Amino acid sequence: MCGIVGYAGKNKGISKVMTGLKSLEYRGYDSSGIAYMKNGKINIIKKEGPIVNLDSCLDYNEDIDIAISHTRWATHGVANDINAHPHRQGKITLVHNGIIENYNELKKELISKGYTFKSDTDTEIASAYLDYIYNKTGNILESLSELTNILKGSYAFNIICDDEPEVIYGMRKDSPLIVGLGDKENILASDIPAVLHITNKYVLLDNYDIVKLTNDKVLFYNKNLEEIKKEVKEFTFDKESISKNGYDHFMLKEINEEADVVKKHLNLYTENDKVKDIFDLSKYKSIDIVACGSASFAGQIGKYYIEKYKNIKVNVYYASEYRYQKNFFDKDTLVLLISQSGETADTLAALKLAKENNIDTLSIVNRKDSSIARESKYVIYTEAGIEIAVATTKAYLSQIIVLLLMAVKDTKYEEKAINDLKLLPNLITKYINEYDYQSIAKIVSEKEHVFYLGRGIDYYLAMEGSLKLKEISYIHSEAFQAGELKHGSISLIDKDFGVISIVTDKTISDKTISNLKEVSSRGAKVIAITNIREDFYDYSIEIDDYDEILNPLLVIVPMQMLAYNVAKLKGCDIDKPRNLAKSVTVE
Ligand code: AGP
Repeated sequence: MCGIVGYAGKNKGISKVMTGLKSLEYRGYDSSGIAYMKNGKINIIKKEGPIVNLDSCLDYNEDIDIAISHTRWATHGVANDINAHPHRQGKITLVHNGIIENYNELKKELISKGYTFKSDTDTEIASAYLDYIYNKTGNILESLSELTNILKGSYAFNIICDDEPEVIYGMRKDSPLIVGLGDKENILASDIPAVLHITNKYVLLDNYDIVKLTNDKVLFYNKNLEEIKKEVKEFTFDKESISKNGYDHFMLKEINEEADVVKKHLNLYTENDKVKDIFDLSKYKSIDIVACGSASFAGQIGKYYIEKYKNIKVNVYYASEYRYQKNFFDKDTLVLLISQSGETADTLAALKLAKENNIDTLSIVNRKDSSIARESKYVIYTEAGIEIAVATTKAYLSQIIVLLLMAVKDTKYEEKAINDLKLLPNLITKYINEYDYQSIAKIVSEKEHVFYLGRGIDYYLAMEGSLKLKEISYIHSEAFQAGELKHGSISLIDKDFGVISIVTDKTISDKTISNLKEVSSRGAKVIAITNIREDFYDYSIEIDDYDEILNPLLVIVPMQMLAYNVAKLKGCDIDKPRNLAKSVTVE
């Protein structure tokens, strides 16, 4: 949701902290800021817009003692210089990722105590309340411990107190925070990419951990201020994973990695045409798949597979709804959470709800040691590698592969599915390199509204195709069940309305084709992504025709490439679309 980076070191601190911050820009980029201590005096610079706006105000050669910085995805208060972080009250300067849910009542209390506020943010309230406590205790550690009893919501803080100009304090609850341990320099950030230019040694903070960090010492405390030892982990990574490697965009690079992602999952999770013992679904009578966005659309595909091949009832829920609806848990229910980042607040909250009801939880996650992975009873890691583009591609595909493998395990479909997946990498490469998406992308790029149609699994695929198009090209797109359109929404169809249809399932394609003819007869031109060679469309992206297991999977890359080319034609910021963030760690 937001990215925070704190740095304590002796050489080129501005450059070091900004390198880390830029690697977190995918977490939010509507404004950014930095506070640094120099000769015992705090300097704060913050600017609306992308980090480049802040960069132009900084002197990279300036030697500083410590710095904290922030790249924002606005929650409270519009994106402007004043609402940008860091925020300062009294002796406390801090940056924050998360949401302080009780900020209003705290604000009223603070105003009654004489505090005034410049910004509309919840974060400034947190800085003021910490200052208020610190004025009473005179001890920042005690004040932080007390603050954990006051704040409600989620937070990851980097904090500077005027009275300790060499120290950065950190504290977290439900928003991620890690410490990078360097040589005479240490870093405190939201996510691993921000520390890799300093070190690959890192420590994951747990909820209510407090950290005291200087350039040559890092101490960890629990909320009772008992000093604690934390496990130091080593992140093995290749530098390529955080560079575009010659591609115009991270999204295009990550689409091109999908062929290898398929191969990697086959190597990891299958052997001798059998699925390894990754997880046995068969002991559950029902499964609630809970996720957000693209992960929930992967979950819909998983529902289709698990019901078809395992004959287990599956419901798919948006996590943001699940946690507030009435749920009928019983001991034979499995709650299956899907999350690329492993930090999505809504999904994490749904996980905690299931655990409170003593329900088994399995998560499918792409980030090791992420909050969802650590909180789940069982976890299966997708191995898509770091995904930088905000719009997911390879992680979405990897979620579907894991769900398919779990669904076919120990069934008569197992060998066929694995052999189909072996064909997928070459077909992905073909669909990326041998298909010209330009002409169709040009047609779509001129549309203001699009229906993405399908039935059954084709509709579940259309959900993701529609989101991809919408989130990177800003065209209003809606996935819609092809059979449902005639019950009202077809009133929107005219010659200018865009219609893209996924047609792979031959058991119901006749019905879908009839629906498309209803659309054509009202003037709209139909674009089909299909393995069916019949005259029911005006334009088509023709995928190969294999079988009911493989055909739907062949749609994924063409949908992603179409969205990518439309967004490119429209000159959109493909890797960092407006208003979005890669990891939505607030509700
Ligand atoms: C992906 O293209 C979207 N940006 C978004 O819907 C994302 O899938 C959703 O926020 C869930 O994220 P997660 O997989 O990290 O939990």
